[in-house]
Amino acid sequence: MGDNNKRGQWGSSIGFVLAAAGSAIGLGNIWKFPYLLGQNGGFLFLICYLIFIAVLGIPVMLGEFALGRRTQLNPLGAYRKIDKRFSFVGVMAILTPFLIVSYYNVIGGWVIKYIVSSPTGAAANLDFGAFIGGTEALVWHLIFAALVVFFCAKGASSIEAASKVMMPSIFIILIVVIIRSVTLPGATEGLKFMFANTDPEAGFSFAKSVPAALGQCFFSLSLGMGAMITYGSYLNKQENLPKQAIVVPLLDTSAALMAGFAIFPAVFAMGIEPNSGAGLAFMTLPKVFEKMPAGGLFGTLFFVLLLFAALTSAISLLECTISFTMDEWNWSRNKSLAILGVSTTVLGAIYSLCNGSILGGIMIGPMTIGGWMEFIPDYILMPIGGMLMCIMIGWVWKFDEPIREITNDGRIKFSYIAIWKACIKWLSPLLILAVFIIKLVEFLGSLA
Ligand code: PHE
Repeated sequence: MGDNNKRGQWGSSIGFVLAAAGSAIGLGNIWKFPYLLGQNGGFLFLICYLIFIAVLGIPVMLGEFALGRRTQLNPLGAYRKIDKRFSFVGVMAILTPFLIVSYYNVIGGWVIKYIVSSPTGAAANLDFGAFIGGTEALVWHLIFAALVVFFCAKGASSIEAASKVMMPSIFIILIVVIIRSVTLPGATEGLKFMFANTDPEAGFSFAKSVPAALGQCFFSLSLGMGAMITYGSYLNKQENLPKQAIVVPLLDTSAALMAGFAIFPAVFAMGIEPNSGAGLAFMTLPKVFEKMPAGGLFGTLFFVLLLFAALTSAISLLECTISFTMDEWNWSRNKSLAILGVSTTVLGAIYSLCNGSILGGIMIGPMTIGGWMEFIPDYILMPIGGMLMCIMIGWVWKFDEPIREITNDGRIKFSYIAIWKACIKWLSPLLILAVFIIKLVEFLGSLA
């Protein structure tokens, strides 16, 4: 891929899969998925999540790939080309990654802190709560944000190269961690929590957990905000889109499940509360490594790989925002990076300080500013962005062109056309709308 005027293309099919999976697989899988699963009762949340991946994630991803490859444009350009009235969806698609990358970089900073604390085993005894709320976290945040800007400055080809090595490695080390975790005494409780727990007291509530699963589906697959439109626009015309739209979610879901396998048996074996929230992975995994031979080494390796997974995702987030300022406002790559890099870092610092006493006491309605920064993309921008994309493809763009794109002008067979159409036109938008209304009612209820 290049970042000159001529639109670059992925070097190879596997390169594309790895880069798309590299965007999808990140902190969402290893940090956010386990903590949401833990807060929402385990098994029932998992079921909702898997259903959303199947009926929403895969069709919407295929739609984004087709939209990107057909138009060969950035998200805003793509929407505008199909129908001017939908330009605002493109603008939403820029706001979303802007907000996400701001707080994502903060979590990335935590990962670096855990890398440096792992060789000596200090990570296992770190006071997570005190760390994330303090000023030290700001320093690590700044380092992570600088790395993201650095890689983006080098252009997107570095994403592809890095993903080729990192993505397979992260799966291998996850397997090692899983083996240790499931063989801890008491580990079966964790597996039961993930795969059999239907106890209504365990944290699952329809109005809270179903919208959380939906938001996580979009977040984890990098959907509803143009990342996959952008990646699709770099795809060559021979590529088999339906296959990619299955492979990427499969890889992403496998990574999330594996993270669950690595974390929950240990959570129960060590008596950590599954609903501990954002610290769950950080508090649990170092304790697993502590119980492993050469744990310092494995722990360090694991967090290094997590750093790369987080970087590939963060790069794709920032890339989405700068592709907009470069295409629309004719800013140079460096100017875009400087302005967006600084503004997202300032916003991220605010998020970070909301975790402690400095800004944590300032509430806007029911949440801190940091809470809103996670809430707005997950519960509003991504689902609504995904819904509007479905509406645009299904009702405005109609299906001739997208089907032609998906079948490579009739050269490949796509047996699920009818199902895909039904999903895009009816099922996905209605499902998203229903869940959105559920969330809205729950939210308004919580204010009362
Ligand atoms: N999918 C990434 C993750 O799971 C986050 C992300 C969202 C990246 C949207 C790009 C776009 O960590």
